[in-house]
Amino acid sequence: MRVSRQEIVDNHARCAERNAVFRRFGYDADRSAAFILSHALPLSGKILEIGTGKGRFLTALLAHVPRVTTVDIDPAEQRCARLNVVFEKPPGRTRFMIADAAHLPWPDHSFDSVVSVNALHHMKNVQRVIDEILRVAKPGGKIVLADFNSRGFAIMNKVHRHEQRIHECFTYRFKELAGRFAVCGWTVILRSGNCQDVLIAVQNSAHEGEVRRKGSRTTR
Ligand SMILES: C[S@@+](CC[C@H](N)C(=O)[O-])C[C@H]1O[C@@H](n2cnc3c(N)ncnc32)[C@H](O)[C@@H]1O
Repeated sequence: MRVSRQEIVDNHARCAERNAVFRRFGYDADRSAAFILSHALPLSGKILEIGTGKGRFLTALLAHVPRVTTVDIDPAEQRCARLNVVFEKPPGRTRFMIADAAHLPWPDHSFDSVVSVNALHHMKNVQRVIDEILRVAKPGGKIVLADFNSRGFAIMNKVHRHEQRIHECFTYRFKELAGRFAVCGWTVILRSGNCQDVLIAVQNSAHEGEVRRKGSRTTR
């Protein structure tokens, strides 16, 4: 990606301004990322992030892991994240890919860890995305899903109302995701704080056969 220093600096300034608006309304993106990481780490092996966005969580994650593959459906958002990574220079490296989370371009069991932060409510078919996450995660791996909790959504809605815009969301029940993971043999921990709901799912590899039987697609 060819970029000028000016583009990197301007992008950073725009994101910092946006984060400052969120903070004024009560959402601190850095604190939220730290809260999620405090429950998500350690994350090891091949890591996939779903929904790069502007890379707020990605840059925080890259301080703790050597490499992340991240997918987003929107090239403009991902470009913004790339510029943020170039600006922040975190120690970890990133592979950016444009892909639809409902149709991930990897075979079954490709990743040791799958993470997604504040992206699921933007996805038209959350159930299909969860199936894909379960499919590409390795048995014995870790899945970390975080989205705004009720306080987080209330703040985002307030910010958007203030800007005379609508916070576009597809409604789903975060806590119901836990049932989907449990039925596939994953052990789930739910946490809430700093405007975030967080789900951490870990699986004993002995449950692999059960995952197959209970609906995670195993072939493409
Ligand atoms: C609010 S952003 C995510 C925030 C980001 N994780 C962060 O920490 O800054 C939501 C992202 O999900 C992406 N997205 C929506 N539907 C998607 C899909 N089906 N597949 C992949 N990405 C999708 C959007 O393009 C958007 O960039």
